[in-house]
Amino acid sequence: MQDMTPLTTLALDKGDWLNLVYLFAAVLFYLGLKMLSSVKTARRGNLVSALGMLVAIAATFFVISDGEAISLVWIGIALLIGAVAGLILAVRVPMTGMPEMVALLNGCGGIASLLVACGDYLKTSDADLALLPGNTLMAIGLATLIGGLTFTGSLVAYAKLAGSKFIPDAPVQFAGQKALIAVLLIGGLVLSGYMIAQPGFGFGLILIAILALALGVLLVIGIGGADMPVVIALLNSYSGIAASMAGFVLGNFALIITGALVGASGIILTNIMCKAMNRSLMNVLFGGVGGAVAGGKGGPQGEARSFSIEDAAIVLDAARTVIIVPGYGMAVAQAQHAVKEFAQQLESRSIDVKYAIHPVAGRMPGHMNVLLAEADVPYEQLQDLEQINPQFEQADVALVIGANDVTNPAARHDTTSPIYGMPILDVDKARTVFVIKRSMNPGFAGIQNELYFKENTGMVFGDAKKVVSELSAELAAN
Ligand code: TAP
Repeated sequence: MQDMTPLTTLALDKGDWLNLVYLFAAVLFYLGLKMLSSVKTARRGNLVSALGMLVAIAATFFVISDGEAISLVWIGIALLIGAVAGLILAVRVPMTGMPEMVALLNGCGGIASLLVACGDYLKTSDADLALLPGNTLMAIGLATLIGGLTFTGSLVAYAKLAGSKFIPDAPVQFAGQKALIAVLLIGGLVLSGYMIAQPGFGFGLILIAILALALGVLLVIGIGGADMPVVIALLNSYSGIAASMAGFVLGNFALIITGALVGASGIILTNIMCKAMNRSLMNVLFGGVGGAVAGGKGGPQGEARSFSIEDAAIVLDAARTVIIVPGYGMAVAQAQHAVKEFAQQLESRSIDVKYAIHPVAGRMPGHMNVLLAEADVPYEQLQDLEQINPQFEQADVALVIGANDVTNPAARHDTTSPIYGMPILDVDKARTVFVIKRSMNPGFAGIQNELYFKENTGMVFGDAKKVVSELSAELAAN
């Protein structure tokens, strides 16, 4: 028989409607994230996610304004301060300063979760605390623990990236550091669990917060500045997990889902970056990589051929296909605009130009994409590792601009090399390779590049921006 349940019993109350709207916002976040995975749709993805956030905030406001005991004035003041600060930062921060900005945003997320959890705990009476379910108490402890370590860890990451004189760029490691980290972490987890047995043990929460703040510093201080982009992706994930925990504390589904999305995407990005460097996360976190540079000693030695601007321009002029391979040096020299002009110069001579983009070229995810986009290089010309590698064999010239490790053929065959196994751009397979850099100094991995001693390689020494501009001028003069 058909179910004849009267419609009135299915009526949704205010909380149900709120959760439905939160679910809608979560769908928008998900769609936005999906669109962010392609440069073509990324801008729209950002807008869709922002719309999701607007919907979630508006719904929360609607409920609060409808009788809940939180002052709208205070929320309005906080919103205004946050919005103005966000706007100023968004307008003023240069593209190259994005990792620092993300570090600060992660830190803000972490401390917000800690404050939400502690605030909620403090405003609950002892009698009510005793009635709280164990998972809520555990969430209070974990939001404090993860939020706290995200906060101080992000500040240290920011200081390292910003070149602060108070926090050295090189890894700071000492005997017993890992053991101390383990003790603090286990201590924080045990205390979080203890909160379930003793809900009124407020001092425990203070202890968790102190342990967490110390843990964040200890975890990040031991990592070299150049690895900070990976650490920031990881801290991003932590800030999401902390927010999710805060969502459990408040019983807010939007926060739980958003936090989980941030937590998952942060860990996926961390994993992608580690894979592209062929390093384990443990090696990034505890390997102390990025300290003293090895100076290229012990690597391949030989005679590197130096080319003048004039000679390099003659070869480039005769080429039909040129693949530009940008790296960290292009970012240091801020040569992206000069590179774009140079590429236009080649194209005006009917030379086919493409850009080979290695996933970890530079020092942050998408570093080269961001710089080249800033210079308005057409996106279709940017080719990732899998697309471009088969094309090097047909290329007349591979022009390496300030890239080093990502072009080192040793990664393919030298099992003793620290970068062995890292996928590289096969530039050595091009007919001619020109490498623009200032000296024979190594790059991030601290090892000499055997590419420089190959027969088909010519070094064009100098600052990337200066050399590329001079090459353009030379081509234009012919
Ligand atoms: P690197 O291997 O670090 O080499 C950069 C080269 O640029 C250096 O050899 C340097 O040589 C040259 N350079 C510096 N300033 C220059 C300037 N003004 N003009 C011309 N050249 C200049 O860079 P890469 O090939 O891009 O590889 C990136 C490395 O960073 C990889 O080892 C990767 O694992 C690591 N890493 C990347 C990331 C991300 S997410 N991208 C995160 C952490 C670590 P001279 O000093 O001789 O000029």
